[in-house]
Amino acid sequence: MRAHGQVVVITGSSSGIGAAAARQLAERGATVCLLARRAGALDAAVSDIRARGGDAHAYPVDLTDDAATTDVARRLLADHGRVDTLVNNAGRSIRRPIRESLDRVHDHERVLAVNYLGAVRLTHALLPSMLDHGRGHVVFSSTMSTQLPVPLFSAYLASKSALESYARSLTAELGTSGITTTVVHFPMVRTEMSGATEIYSAMRMMDAERAGGWLVKAVVDRPTRVTSLSGAVAQAGMSVLPGVLIKVSAPLFRRMDRDLARRSQRS
Ligand SMILES: NC(=O)c1ccc[n+]([C@@H]2O[C@H](COP(=O)([O-])OP(=O)(O)OC[C@H]3O[C@@H](n4cnc5c(N)ncnc54)[C@H](OP(=O)(O)O)[C@@H]3O)[C@@H](O)[C@H]2O)c1
Repeated sequence: MRAHGQVVVITGSSSGIGAAAARQLAERGATVCLLARRAGALDAAVSDIRARGGDAHAYPVDLTDDAATTDVARRLLADHGRVDTLVNNAGRSIRRPIRESLDRVHDHERVLAVNYLGAVRLTHALLPSMLDHGRGHVVFSSTMSTQLPVPLFSAYLASKSALESYARSLTAELGTSGITTTVVHFPMVRTEMSGATEIYSAMRMMDAERAGGWLVKAVVDRPTRVTSLSGAVAQAGMSVLPGVLIKVSAPLFRRMDRDLARRSQRS
């Protein structure tokens, strides 16, 4: 599939990876529909894309709101006639030890509300139209940490694993009806989300522009998965020796956090 001529809906495109992907897809000739809560940031992103000659449209919406999500899906279809690709990229993250989360089940509820239920809600609202057209592609922004679990992100990783399982079910049930999916396993990316954790200021990360390119690959090439080589190797290892890999990697991650904390204090 070429990007040119596609109607692509990208959630979480008021900043970070989603905003970069929207710019790049518009440059390749896609009509891009940008969804997120911050109307001002969406308008700025849309103006930027239009100033470069692209076709972009802003749809402010809170994806945790059922009625608002149904309404935005209806408006997307009324305005553009169809959606070729939906990129479920909106997300939030919480970094907190399980020991400090024992009275905080709401951490899980809040993260699931956006990362998992928000994505399922919008997918379900657009699926009937995709099925009527006999085709549709659904992309899910996930993380390398579902391939090899990093400590302190239990609620976040659970929500992304749920998303990945849902993607597999979509492919298994509706693949013969023209519905395809891609799960994108991002490594750490320099955005507002990763910037919220102070020690990560000292970590080397992918930039949002390059990560946006991974979403472009998902939209254009439509592979089942976009991953780094190290993520793919870790995922293969986890399916064979999960206990050993977690036992070996967890202390390494803890040491990495201690090193990052020391370096971020120095700078
Ligand atoms: N950065 C990383 O290291 C990293 C690594 C792996 C995976 N990822 C994934 O990549 C995706 C993009 O994250 P990012 O790093 O680009 O962070 P970001 O800049 O913080 O982007 C998150 C986006 O989600 C939107 N959003 C949050 N809650 C929403 C809601 N209730 N309704 C609608 N939109 C909502 C935000 O917009 P508003 O605030 O305007 O609503 C924003 O546009 C996420 O799914 C994240 O889990 C990121």
